[in-house]
Amino acid sequence: MADLMDYSDRVLLNEEEIKEMVARLGAQITRDYEGKKLFLICVLKGGFVFMADLVRAINLPLEVDFIAVSSYGSSTKSSGVVRLLKDIDKPLNDKHVLIVEDIMDSGLTLKYIKSMFENRSPLSVKICTAFDKPERRKVDITPDYVGAVIPDEYVVGYGLDYDGILRNLPELCVLKREIYE
Ligand code: IMP
Ligand code: MG
Repeated sequence: MADLMDYSDRVLLNEEEIKEMVARLGAQITRDYEGKKLFLICVLKGGFVFMADLVRAINLPLEVDFIAVSSYGSSTKSSGVVRLLKDIDKPLNDKHVLIVEDIMDSGLTLKYIKSMFENRSPLSVKICTAFDKPERRKVDITPDYVGAVIPDEYVVGYGLDYDGILRNLPELCVLKREIYE
């Protein structure tokens, strides 16, 4: 029988470790945004699993919305050319925006998204990423909240895909090289 773990070279973070990571971020965000109008904006599709866990770890009234972007490029590398496929529904003027993303790699996608929101004059714009590969950064952008720093390897699971699949793997795994080489 086929098994999702057949795609995995090894587990980088198991379910328990991810749970602790989300709880820590949720507690930190709860402290930092107390008394403020918090608006979480998830970057689809990769961010949806993290977003669902993160909102339930934040003990504050908050709003959510979703944007969808596509970056042109191969299936394992982003090109930096970002296209907005779905925008949010409301203006941002009285809100503190927290962008929720699955992973930061070159940083090109988030650089684009962050400045797009900044141009709409919200009270603040910050970034919360589940995973970060700082070694691969091509532009100067630092996430405000990071779940886990990971090595420069292609990872799947917990929302992250390879060629559209594997988002439903509950662990964060390194994709087997033979799958994409
Ligand atoms: P960036 O623009 O290079 O920072 O790329 C960000 C986007 O590329 C993420 O939102 C992911 O969709 C995708 N991405 C980058 N690294 C990985 C990875 O290791 N696995 C799956 N998707 C990735
Ligand atoms: Mg992706």
